[in-house]
Amino acid sequence: MTLDQKLMTFHQKQQRIGIFDSGVGGLTVLRELYRQLPNESILYFGDTARLPYGTKTPAEILQFVREIINWMLQQDVKMIMMACNTSSALALETVRAEFNIPILGIILPGARAAVKHGRRIGVIATPATAASNAYRRAILEVDSTLQVWQVGCPEFVPLIEQNRIHDPYTTIVAREYLAPLLQQGIDTLIYGCTHYPHLEPVVCTILPRTVKSIDPAVHLVASAAQELELMGLHNCSPLLPTQFCVSGCPQHFAQLSLQWLGFTPIVEKVVLPALLNQPVPLKSMHSDI
Ligand code: DGL
Repeated sequence: MTLDQKLMTFHQKQQRIGIFDSGVGGLTVLRELYRQLPNESILYFGDTARLPYGTKTPAEILQFVREIINWMLQQDVKMIMMACNTSSALALETVRAEFNIPILGIILPGARAAVKHGRRIGVIATPATAASNAYRRAILEVDSTLQVWQVGCPEFVPLIEQNRIHDPYTTIVAREYLAPLLQQGIDTLIYGCTHYPHLEPVVCTILPRTVKSIDPAVHLVASAAQELELMGLHNCSPLLPTQFCVSGCPQHFAQLSLQWLGFTPIVEKVVLPALLNQPVPLKSMHSDI
């Protein structure tokens, strides 16, 4: 390796990992990054001005995701993780073919983890993710004898973003969403939206003990760790503090995040440049989890 190549690799290792979601859902992935990859520096983006994603059309989601990836490339990240099931379900394949950076989605790691645990798998997800059938397809690809039920839960994300997790109404809604899955006798429940693990204190009062819950964030981060190892891009230098950016109100995001982060983050507002008349970069290296 020449000196130039060594310097280049050193720079790449130090670059941040970009992760994004519509809002605070991605914090469930961020906390796993802190746990499993404590040496990596992170750029977090929450598209809070446009949440929820789960009731948007596939075309809208693709447009949002392209804008976010373009912006993250300008921030010089070394890898992008979709900390959002809706984006992974509706845009991952397209943007992987378009952009020259490793982009990891959350559906496949979550589906593979569930297959290891159960045969009757329930998925709670946003309406868009449930309608896309992404979890069912990913699970049945691994084992076509398994049974999968997906329920769209449109009220969950607004309730979480309004900090109403401990509101009794949230428990009523959760019982309604989980009832059809429990009637099917599921043995495994996938949190098919990164916001939903924040509802664990509510869900665990409803789920029988025999049902194993799967948080795909854990498995997405494990895949990212493997990918970084394969590419030789693990960071070994001093950490940069996590950079938090949102498209909506920074104060709201900072206050809401405190309960999950244990600290109040410094949050910047960014305005994403719209993609109109902007060429989408062409690809090609990508990862294949
Ligand atoms: N947390 C995201 C997901 O995993 C998006 C939720 C939303 O904004 O509807 O799907």
